[in-house]
Amino acid sequence: MKVVVVGSINLDLVVQADRFPKVGETLFGLDSQMLPGGKGANQAVAAARLGADVTMIGCVGKDAYGEIVLKNFQENQVDTSCIKQVAAPTGVAYITIAENDNSIILVQGANACVDRSVVAEYKTQILAADIVITQCEIPLDTIEYLIDFCAENNICLVLNPAPTPEIAPEYLAKATFLTPNEIEINQLFQQDAQSVLQEYPNQIIMTYGSKGVRYHDGEKLVEVPSYKVPVVDTTGAGDTFNAAFAVAYGQNQEIESAIKFANLAASKTVQGLGAQPAMPRIAELTEE
Ligand code: RIB
Repeated sequence: MKVVVVGSINLDLVVQADRFPKVGETLFGLDSQMLPGGKGANQAVAAARLGADVTMIGCVGKDAYGEIVLKNFQENQVDTSCIKQVAAPTGVAYITIAENDNSIILVQGANACVDRSVVAEYKTQILAADIVITQCEIPLDTIEYLIDFCAENNICLVLNPAPTPEIAPEYLAKATFLTPNEIEINQLFQQDAQSVLQEYPNQIIMTYGSKGVRYHDGEKLVEVPSYKVPVVDTTGAGDTFNAAFAVAYGQNQEIESAIKFANLAASKTVQGLGAQPAMPRIAELTEE
């Protein structure tokens, strides 16, 4: 099953602390790590660990961070032949983990170079995909171009609208699936979530944190509960969810069953620190 991910690639600089600092305050941290991340890269690695044949389309800098993230893709069997090394620094996410939550400041860097010409250059790879996944840490124009291209060519596209893009509803309607959380759904549609789900049956899959996932099947609202597990760090859980949903749906599972599989995969990710270290491999999920 072939997955193409078009999106962001970052290096995550993660610090753990007892609490978030106040404005102007200096705090001692508990620990710090440098980990491969970026919503696109996380989704690519998660899909590859779940057995998909994955190609990543994106940009990194010609710098030390770029080398780290490229090596990480190779170690996770993600095809890097469509990743460009550009004259901008690799994207960096500064992540603080505290109070059972996280905060992230993203410096887009090379991700801003993923313009429509990059997508156009790799049209052959996109046309060969069973499913394409994208998110919103690359320029909006590129996402709109990709949505149009996938719609015109009947390619299944999962659009994870995070961070919330300023995108017109006509574009959103063209994606096969949208996977917003509750905040993103309100920001995108300025309506209550339930009416939006009803308006986009079998298309909008709303993640609802520890409460699970909701969508409308055309007749009724369907709620798929999440797995109750001890949470260490939620960073990357949404990325695992998107990748696992795409892998399962791409393998012809029904929407509800693909969501259950994605919830299980995401429940593994939250049990470890960092986005990628705790992402499960397929064997861990099929044993359950
Ligand atoms: O979704 C988690 C990701 O968001 C992190 O890996 C970080 O890079 C930010 O982009």
